[in-house]
Amino acid sequence: METITTVAGLRACVRKWKQAGDRVGVVPTMGALHEGHLSLVHAARAQADRVIATVFVNPIQFDNADDLETYPRTLEADACLLKGAGVDVLYAPTVSQMYPPGFATRINVSGVSEGLCGGTRAGHFDGVATVVCKLLMQTLADRAFFGEKDFQQVQVVRRMVTDLDLPVEVVACPTQREADGLALSSRNRRLAPHQRQIAVALPRIMRACAADIAAGADIPAALTQAAGQLADAGFEPVEYVELRSELDLQPLASLSGDAPARLLAAAWLGDVRLIDGMAVALPE
Ligand code: PAF
Repeated sequence: METITTVAGLRACVRKWKQAGDRVGVVPTMGALHEGHLSLVHAARAQADRVIATVFVNPIQFDNADDLETYPRTLEADACLLKGAGVDVLYAPTVSQMYPPGFATRINVSGVSEGLCGGTRAGHFDGVATVVCKLLMQTLADRAFFGEKDFQQVQVVRRMVTDLDLPVEVVACPTQREADGLALSSRNRRLAPHQRQIAVALPRIMRACAADIAAGADIPAALTQAAGQLADAGFEPVEYVELRSELDLQPLASLSGDAPARLLAAAWLGDVRLIDGMAVALPE
């Protein structure tokens, strides 16, 4: 595995691959890698000839300076994991390489970036869309792999790729979970042991809520009940528990066969913000 830190170096490498007819897959990450990221690398390995993993803690998607400061940075360990997973190139640009002095562009994807995580994190999805667009243009990837845990992020990237005619296929991969059901996240490592015990209530309560809705429960009542159960379990604050269309992230007042539905939630344990999401299917 080669580590590249400049746009020029990456372009030279990708040019050779493209000349040889290789299809390129990219897995964008902010590092602090876990099995969830590696599942994206495995998917990329299976669906592309060459795999680039990017590690870049993107300052413009953080709305909180402390969060950016404390975001885990574990490049050496990340490099070992990526090498073991068969990545061809680790692309780890510096902040000044990505955002040189004078950088002034932001991509704003309206609609799907509003509400949910976009409701409380000002500018977050502009930062995500901007960096993902740059990474796609820099890597010239044919396919880009993202985790469904960040469901709204996937929809924002899909909308941007469609709207800007970017020649890349966005591949969404299923959420990876711990044995007890907690969705894998780089933030989990910041949970104290007692918080880790509480954290498992998030997928448990969401699963029960999804099952109630699928069985015909009143949707607003089921969502309110789940938010209350999360608060009782120790989450503070519970930011949202919502049922949205998987297609355009519009709120859903009822289930129908035409619009696949997804239950989405965000809640805090101390200074750790956890999110999760799961499909809600009508019974067969
Ligand atoms: O999901 C992430 O890790 C980040 O939001 C991404 C897509 C790498 C952009 O910085």
